[in-house]
Parts: sequence; C-alpha cells; structure tokens
Amino acid sequence: MPAEPKPPAACLIGWPAAHSRSPLIHHYWLRALGIEGGYTIESVPPEDVADFVGRLSRHGFVGANVTIPHKERALLLSVSDEPAKAVGAANTLWYQGGTLFSTNTDIEGFLNNLDASAPGWDAATDALVLGAGGASRAVVFGLIERGIKRVHLANRTAGRAQALADQFGAAVVPVAWETVGEVLPRAGLLVNTTSLGMKGQPALDIDVGLLPQEAVVADLVYVPLQTPLLTAARARGLRTADGLGMLLHQAVRGFELWFGKRPEVTPELRALVEDDLTKV
Ligand code: ATR
Repeated sequence: MPAEPKPPAACLIGWPAAHSRSPLIHHYWLRALGIEGGYTIESVPPEDVADFVGRLSRHGFVGANVTIPHKERALLLSVSDEPAKAVGAANTLWYQGGTLFSTNTDIEGFLNNLDASAPGWDAATDALVLGAGGASRAVVFGLIERGIKRVHLANRTAGRAQALADQFGAAVVPVAWETVGEVLPRAGLLVNTTSLGMKGQPALDIDVGLLPQEAVVADLVYVPLQTPLLTAARARGLRTADGLGMLLHQAVRGFELWFGKRPEVTPELRALVEDDLTKV
C-alpha cells in the first residue's frame, strides 16, 4: 500500500525560538476551517538558516514564516516580490511549482487592520510615522501604495528617516524628532512604529490633543495591548488601530498560501490571542 500523504505543515523560523503567537493563530484557523495541517516553531541559528531554508520542503514544510534575525536573509534565499525587496525583509515563504517565493505581509497586515478598525482612514492626505526601523519601512511602503500624499517621518536618529526618504522618494518628508508637535495638527493618521510604549520601555511623549478631530491613531506595539498612546487617543474620542490587529491580519496570506483557504480574523481569534498576551 502506498504511504499516506502527510498533512501539510508550515513553521516559524527564528533564533532564538521566541515565544510567538503564530502557532496559536494558525492552529485556530486549521481547526476553524477543518484542515488537517501543522505549524511549528523551528529554532535555527544564523549559520544554518541558508541550509534550512534551502531544504525547507525536504524538512517536510510547504512554507514558513520568518522572524528575527532572519528576515533579511530570507529575502536573498528565495524569489521575493517587489514589496518585500522595497521593505528589505521577507516574513513569509511558500512554494509554487517547486520554486520558493517570499513576500512581506506586514504591509497588508498594517493596511488591512486599519481598514477593519477605522474604515475611511485613507481620506487623510498627511500621515505622521514615528520610527524608521524595519517595521516603519513596511508601514511607509503601504501608506504610499494607498495614495497618502505626504508621509512625515520622525525618528530619534535623523539619518535613518533620511535614508527612507532617499529610498521612497518625495512622498516621505523627514521631520526632526523634537518638532513632531508641529506636524500633529496636520496628521490625519499617526502611526507609532517605535518600541516606545512597549512593556519595559518609556512611554511615547506625544500630545494627541494636537491631532485633528478626525485623526486615526495606530500603534504597532501590542504588549501591552492598550498602550498609553492608544489609551490617550481613545480618551480623546479618536479612532484607533492596535498592534494585535496588525499581527492577526499579517498572518492571513501565509495561511492561504500554505493551506489553500483564506482565513478570517474573527473576534474569537482575537480573544484567544488577547488571553495569551495577558499571561506574559
Ligand atoms: P523594528 O523592526 O521593530 O522597526 P528597529 O529596526 O530596531 O525595530 O527600530 C526600532 C525603532 O524604535 C527605531 O526607529 C528606533 O529609533 P532609532 O533609529 O533612533 O534607534 C526607535 N526607538 C527605540 N527606542 C527609542 C527611544 N527610547 N526613543 C525614541 N525612539 C526609539
């Protein structure tokens, strides 16, 4: 008798294998959609990542998520799409016709979460993005793609904001970190991509009272779920999009590519991950 084909499995490749919510998310969707499949965490040191990714299918995987510190390498170890190249990092790998492809789903995760949390947010002409690291690159790319005219970009280290402006062109306007207050009254969207406000980090010192009444505030930080920035924005009656929403939305396409069905970000899934986050 021929051997039973194994159910498809994907994994998260990282080092060290941090406590990730990705298995929780993908197992929920596998269960919800009645798909027999798996998702594991694979701890792979930098010196082994090329070999591991090169043999991904021989290790039994139909694809993978990639996290710190391998996202830049993943780009070079696969056929990456233009958005991933522009962001300089890939977080999702999958096979098509035997070839390993990659993309960066943080871009759509950010945009789809905003669409779900604050529909119409893209009526803004001006956005203010804080931070110029890896997450900021995905956010800036997404905002330009969605037609935001000016992305004001403030970063503690001015040179990194300038580097993004040099890469992404005239839509990105570097702003000195000390002068953020001057841009707030024009910002229809404020996005925090820095680690400020994260558990154990200082809070972000921003006066949301200076934002326009219709402004939307997004924070990529999700530990804690309610960052001081989001709390202040909600207290002022502004619409918000939180980091957990982005985390859930960025996971959708990987699942679809590996397991063949597009999953939904449901309130039940959110509650499940929220519950897990409170155990931190
Ligand atoms: P990620 O991939 O999450 O974007 P990163 O590339 O390490 O992570 O970027 C972290 C961002 O948070 C950077 O914009 C960083 O500013 P610098 O470029 O000046 O380092 C910002 N950041 C971290 N701690 C900060 C602090 N105490 N004050 C202001 N910005 C801070």
